[in-house]
Amino acid sequence: MRLILLGPPGAGKGTQAKLLTGRLGIPQVSTGDILRQAVAHGTELGREAKSFMDRGALVPDEVVIGIIEERLRKPDCAPGYILDGFPRTLPQAEALARALTSLHASMDRVLSVEVPEEDLVKRLTGRRVCRGCGNMYHVDTSPPRKAGRCDTCGDSLYQRDDDKEETIRHRLRVYKEQTQPLVAYYERLGLLERIDGRGTVEEISQRVHRALG
Ligand code: AP5
Repeated sequence: MRLILLGPPGAGKGTQAKLLTGRLGIPQVSTGDILRQAVAHGTELGREAKSFMDRGALVPDEVVIGIIEERLRKPDCAPGYILDGFPRTLPQAEALARALTSLHASMDRVLSVEVPEEDLVKRLTGRRVCRGCGNMYHVDTSPPRKAGRCDTCGDSLYQRDDDKEETIRHRLRVYKEQTQPLVAYYERLGLLERIDGRGTVEEISQRVHRALG
């Protein structure tokens, strides 16, 4: 199955993608994770991306399109994948359609996860991520057993540079202007399912499961 998780920052795309990966046995392809890894390793891509990411702006289309074209050709993507955070602009969606055609493939479903803005801000300001295994926590709703340490691997937790309130508000504006139009784009293609993203992680996971039949 080939699937896109669409939704604003903090909607829970990453959380649900990880659950789906376990359930469907297909990889999560997150452009945000790929870019953050490049930043952490100090590669040329990372140095280019960092200034955009730190201020909550989108990395230029040609850069992320190149990343995705390469990633989707890897053997683990052959049975399908969950796109998390891509596409985010109309040119990215069109490039994805061309890439799929060249691979003789098509998109199966696009899930738009919808959450009110104030909930998004609360989720993102409280998010903490494990440096070791990438597990996600929230200081109020899903805190680790030992403060600042991952329950799974024991490594330290950190706050993403773009999870400061001012940057979050900017990311939400960028989402409305550049990414939200994709909801109508995929609706016209008959691929879109809207998911109510309010409630617990488990409740949303059940809605996702139902939407996928
Ligand atoms: P990216 O990493 O893709 O970030 P994002 O889209 O802003 O999404 P987030 O990861 O912030 O949120 P999410 O929806 O995955 O929520 P999560 O599950 O983590 O992109 C970062 C940057 O990279 C961009 O700003 C841009 O610069 C660049 N970039 C990436 N892709 C790009 C592209 N295609 N084009 C151009 N630039 C690109 O959950 C959030 C928090 O909420 C967590 O703490 C979680 O525990 C908690 N939570 C989750 N579900 C629930 C729930 N149901 N109830 C309560 N809390 C919950």
